[in-house]
Amino acid sequence: MTGVDSRLLAERVIAVTGASRGIGWAIAELLHRSGARVFAGARQRPEFPGTGITATVLDVASESSVQAFAEMAAGAGVDTLVNNAGIGVFAPLEQATVEDFRRIFDTNVLGTLLATKWFIPEFKRRHQRGLPSHLVNVTSDVSARTFAGGAIYAASKHAQRALTQTAAREGERYGLRVTEVRPGMTDTHFNARIPGSPQRAGHLQPQDVARAVLHALAAPPHVRVDEIVVHPAVQAVEY
Ligand SMILES: NC(=O)c1ccc[n+]([C@@H]2O[C@H](COP(=O)([O-])OP(=O)(O)OC[C@H]3O[C@@H](n4cnc5c(N)ncnc54)[C@H](OP(=O)(O)O)[C@@H]3O)[C@@H](O)[C@H]2O)c1
Repeated sequence: MTGVDSRLLAERVIAVTGASRGIGWAIAELLHRSGARVFAGARQRPEFPGTGITATVLDVASESSVQAFAEMAAGAGVDTLVNNAGIGVFAPLEQATVEDFRRIFDTNVLGTLLATKWFIPEFKRRHQRGLPSHLVNVTSDVSARTFAGGAIYAASKHAQRALTQTAAREGERYGLRVTEVRPGMTDTHFNARIPGSPQRAGHLQPQDVARAVLHALAAPPHVRVDEIVVHPAVQAVEY
């Protein structure tokens, strides 16, 4: 990708979850090239050869793992958390299983809750020093709509949206700006597993979503980007 301003996020320290591939990897890589110091976590240690990105093993569904990640990032003065880690299972309601429900909610909902919870203390410390912080939650365009075959996934994304908006309301008191990024169909490992998923040609690339995150993070201090919905032009118009 050309045209990246390597000073745009200079002096920013940003933690990204779910960064071993797909959207999270692209976010970490773009934010790094935009000048931020980046901490990238996933269950499989992310790889960013030849960069200064700090890659670490992270399971967002494990509170001790999340706490260790947050404390490491806080030690470096983290000002931004990008909650991106997420999984999906797609099946009609009558095929829903308790195991799938727990797995998806543990990652998408509990994972977002735990990461947010463990980064807030550092965000509050920053506020006491007059410094702002930012939370970006990568949810989905289905965080505010539903689709056949997406019961558990869409329910988890609605819950993530509720967590996002709650963090925004609470964070007002301590200088936290919160952005929900809601991508449509994106060409990743995840998307490849959706049965009946139409042609991936024309879908968003992970870098398209990364640019949306960068847009929110690079906004001037008086601007708060509450929400970005980004769809591939080939996807039917949905709200
Ligand atoms: N692709 C789409 O069409 C699409 C559309 C809208 C929204 N989204 C959302 O975008 C986010 C990223 O999805 P993607 O498309 O990039 O999927 P992906 O290619 O499957 O990547 C998912 C990432 O999440 C990580 N992850 C999964 N469980 C984790 C856990 N317990 N702890 C830490 N990391 C974990 C994975 O790494 P490990 O397996 O190594 O942990 C991987 O790095 C998800 O929240 C997804 O719901 C995707």
